[in-house]
Amino acid sequence: MLSTAATVAPLPLVGEVDPMRAFVTKNHPRPARSPIIRSEVVYESQKQQAAIASLVNEFTILPAKLKEIKDCFKSEMVKGLGKQGETLAMVQTHILGRPNGSETGTYLTLDIGGTYLRVVLIELSQGRKVSTRQKKYAIDPLLKIGEPKLLFDFMASCIDSFLLANEAVIPKESQLDLGFTFSFPVLHTSVNSGTLIDWTKGYNCHGMVGKDPAEFLQQALLSRNLTVNVAALMNDTVGTLLSHAFTYPRTVVGLGLGTGSNAAYIERVDRIGKRDTTVLGNNAEVIAQEMVINVEFGAFDNERTVLPRTMFDNKVDRKSLNPSKQLFEKMIAGMYLGEITRSVLLDLIDNRLLFRGQSSHKLDTPWEFLTEYMSVIEEDSTPDLEEVRRVLEDSLGLGRFESLETQFAAMAETAGLTRGGELPKEPATTLSDRQIVKLVVELVGKRSARLTAAALGGILEHTMGYTWARNEAERQGGVDIGVDGSLHGYYPGYESDLIRGLEELFALEPEMSFLFANDCDSGGFMGKIRLGRCLDGSSTGAALGAALATRSAAQPRADSQRGH
Ligand code: BGC
Repeated sequence: MLSTAATVAPLPLVGEVDPMRAFVTKNHPRPARSPIIRSEVVYESQKQQAAIASLVNEFTILPAKLKEIKDCFKSEMVKGLGKQGETLAMVQTHILGRPNGSETGTYLTLDIGGTYLRVVLIELSQGRKVSTRQKKYAIDPLLKIGEPKLLFDFMASCIDSFLLANEAVIPKESQLDLGFTFSFPVLHTSVNSGTLIDWTKGYNCHGMVGKDPAEFLQQALLSRNLTVNVAALMNDTVGTLLSHAFTYPRTVVGLGLGTGSNAAYIERVDRIGKRDTTVLGNNAEVIAQEMVINVEFGAFDNERTVLPRTMFDNKVDRKSLNPSKQLFEKMIAGMYLGEITRSVLLDLIDNRLLFRGQSSHKLDTPWEFLTEYMSVIEEDSTPDLEEVRRVLEDSLGLGRFESLETQFAAMAETAGLTRGGELPKEPATTLSDRQIVKLVVELVGKRSARLTAAALGGILEHTMGYTWARNEAERQGGVDIGVDGSLHGYYPGYESDLIRGLEELFALEPEMSFLFANDCDSGGFMGKIRLGRCLDGSSTGAALGAALATRSAAQPRADSQRGH
């Protein structure tokens, strides 16, 4: 919290908007999928039709398989709660309880995500976020794979420049508490310390695994003489959970569905077999409490026992910075969906079943098929798939291939032997090409949403009767889930596929039947399982985390002189 003798001027609302988000939200307020009608796909050969049928088969997850995945996820959760080192890390965040709306104060937050780093000053007052000031800083890709010190110095420099720019509202002499959102797997030792388990999402700074990111940040701040105390270290999904719970007290899960994927949820302490009783105590009062658990579900099924992985998933994994790790995340997260699609398309091309066997430089380049393209393709409802054409031809340079004839003609034109406009017209992509691309995109996008449903379904079933639906009134009241991340926010049809997946799963479980009761005012299934969009919730959540941490008198870090 900001503690100073001087009164703090109320913070004006100054939002700085991510240009990508601004573009997407302006054009796609709530995007809807416009699915391809499979019977209308024009196949150019039987071989092509057979190849597509086989892809449909590989990427479609039927209800029975979805249930098998969900059940396996649930048992992995229990294993992870039992002991350290299991596939699902089930990280104890040391955050006890949920916000109760009394959190008040002004906090600084730093949120490091895939592409941006965001510094936010948040004022909380009696259950409301009164105001925010924020600034986003692009992260140089080299910082993600270089020396950790450089990355943390960059973070401290962003805070420095933010404080300087906001000197008018933050007096120089103030001591600020900072909530640090660090969206990577960390094994917590306290609410504001922990050790990095692994880098994910394309980060790989040398020698950082096993070290404390909060300590690195604190040292970087100290070396700039900044009186900022890292009061809370938290995962983005924990932030999303806290922030949603601040407004919707029935929230039990925070989901992050963006570049990476993960969830945090509310657990009852007595169900955490691996809890450290020397830290937590072991009396009845303690074990009846709730603790936020960061599932780190990206690592689910790293042993490859249950997920229906395809050779395309394996290709993406092999070429990633962390092969054989985060295998679930690599099938569902925004960072990977475009790359999976690219891999499928290249396979079709290599078998001469798409674009007449011709690729383009862009499509041949790893990571160049952006997940954003998938959103545009999913949304295209024009009869000729004009938007798909735009992506394939204009953005990816497909269908522009040069036959020898075209190359000779171009040379002849350059040499002045022919006049412009006499080049033989190459057909660009065909309708059949575009339909097939759209179908492949749908398969990859839908599979992601359904797999996410399996994980969320597992979490909800695991917690049902413990942290929600404990009595009839709670059953009637249903449950809230805070969701952040661009896939949920902007990917057409993602949310409805996710909900449909949950419905299918719970229809198979008799004890979940109360969710389908369509009694007056309940709003049916969707009225009971409420997914709430919580855009940028992780920053507010970090402020709440800092508030909860300072409330339970965490050790101040700014005084700490511990080295790394
Ligand atoms: C990280 C998680 C994070 C998720 C969403 C994953 O790669 O392991 O800690 O919550 O991305 O940002």
